[in-house]
Amino acid sequence: MTHSVLDQLPQIMGHRGACGHAPENTLSSIEMAATLGAKFIEIDVCLTKDNIAVIHHDTDVDRCTDGHGPVLLKTLAEIKQLDAGMQFSPTFIGEKIPTLKEAISIIDKLGLGLNLELKPSKGWQVPTTEFVVRELQEFLPNGVPLLVSSFNIEALVKLGALMPEVPLGYLTEAIPPDWEQRLADAECASLHCEKDFVTKENVAAVKAAGYKFLVYTVNDPDMANQFLDWGVDSVITDYPDRLFEGLQLTKTG
Ligand code: G3P
Ligand code: MG
Repeated sequence: MTHSVLDQLPQIMGHRGACGHAPENTLSSIEMAATLGAKFIEIDVCLTKDNIAVIHHDTDVDRCTDGHGPVLLKTLAEIKQLDAGMQFSPTFIGEKIPTLKEAISIIDKLGLGLNLELKPSKGWQVPTTEFVVRELQEFLPNGVPLLVSSFNIEALVKLGALMPEVPLGYLTEAIPPDWEQRLADAECASLHCEKDFVTKENVAAVKAAGYKFLVYTVNDPDMANQFLDWGVDSVITDYPDRLFEGLQLTKTG
């Protein structure tokens, strides 16, 4: 299946918004990515106790907020009481964990594309995907480019069954030897690999098989340029500004 979204993938994609400059996965981080020139962002989604999709990376809220415990055991009202900005910097005190609905609204307003990473708690792969799909179907405007990625195959397969029109990204650290079979089985359109495991050879092989190749998380402009030279389609970065500057230097210098 061909997906026009894949033709719109930019060379540089913001990670958790632009989490080098603002608290990860918050509305400020998404806005920051757009301000820095990113056209597409990656954010993580998981589920609350009352089955609301929220934008958060970890299973629990401990690292990124002033609270404790699993997201899945908190209602949205409880999640909204947490401060998701102060751990990053006092400048962002008062920042909240956004819902998927809130994130979509700002992404649409800013004209961004969305790489939504499904981050289900283990055991909640299927319900997480089902509730996320329900919200995407209700709230995502037609014009917002969407790519859904996950480390979890069960979540990807479920997403594909419910929204066959959405391209899927297979997330991995190292590329497994049977990657081609895995991508085919989950009907993925792209492979997203951790930067330390990327080689010129595996980029060539994945591209020759007809898949897009994305790399995370690349904050060094020289490394980003190397990957792009090898044929990588998109690099995911905490610092879109640094990578844009690096690209300009390459083009003019
Ligand atoms: O989607 C790329 C990257 O976000 C995957 O790893 O742990 O940062 O979500 P992580
Ligand atoms: Mg992620």
